[in-house]
Amino acid sequence: MPPHALSLLGRMIDRMTVQRDSLDWARAEVDGRPGLVLEIGLGKGRTYDHLRHLFPPRDILVFDMWVRVPPELAPDADRLFTGDFQETLATAAGNCGRCARLAHADFGSTDRLHDARQAEWLAPRIDALMLPGGVVLSDRLMERPGWRPLTLPNTERWPYFAWRVGDATGKRPASPDA
Ligand SMILES: C[S@@+](CC[C@H](N)C(=O)[O-])C[C@H]1O[C@@H](n2cnc3c(N)ncnc32)[C@H](O)[C@@H]1O
Repeated sequence: MPPHALSLLGRMIDRMTVQRDSLDWARAEVDGRPGLVLEIGLGKGRTYDHLRHLFPPRDILVFDMWVRVPPELAPDADRLFTGDFQETLATAAGNCGRCARLAHADFGSTDRLHDARQAEWLAPRIDALMLPGGVVLSDRLMERPGWRPLTLPNTERWPYFAWRVGDATGKRPASPDA
């Protein structure tokens, strides 16, 4: 008896579908509003490549411990922050302050406890880079004062999360356009 109702292949298809649909949804959410895009977790470069397709000409800042992608998927050196998110997100915030309209934090591993602990320190570091009214997407739950949960399409197929960022005082925006 298999442990899951769906095969590994089926679950992978669900995950990729929900990721793609969430990123597509986010494009409409941030359309017409200025600000950079953050890809927090380059991994194999799949979602980074999708962001590149969705968001020209926005700059995309990319973060990961390692760059393990083929050359055609490697971000330009001046947009790439290699090393632990703990340091690299702080470096980016020091460089550009609250400059991001969209952050995609795709940092999940097979260790849920580790991910939950990481989410605790990741959220404030991401927050420091976000413009008021910006959108944060993630494959793991995060909590941050002033972040208002948003509903994503298709998450009954695979869990994915989104928030609208409040202003710098941590106040929640009154409306989606705030
Ligand atoms: C789920 S994968 C990202 C998948 C990627 N978005 C894709 O579409 O191929 C998570 C990535 O987060 C990176 N990561 C996790 N924790 C990190 C940390 N503390 N600092 C830097 N990178 C980290 C891992 O190296 C890994 O490449």
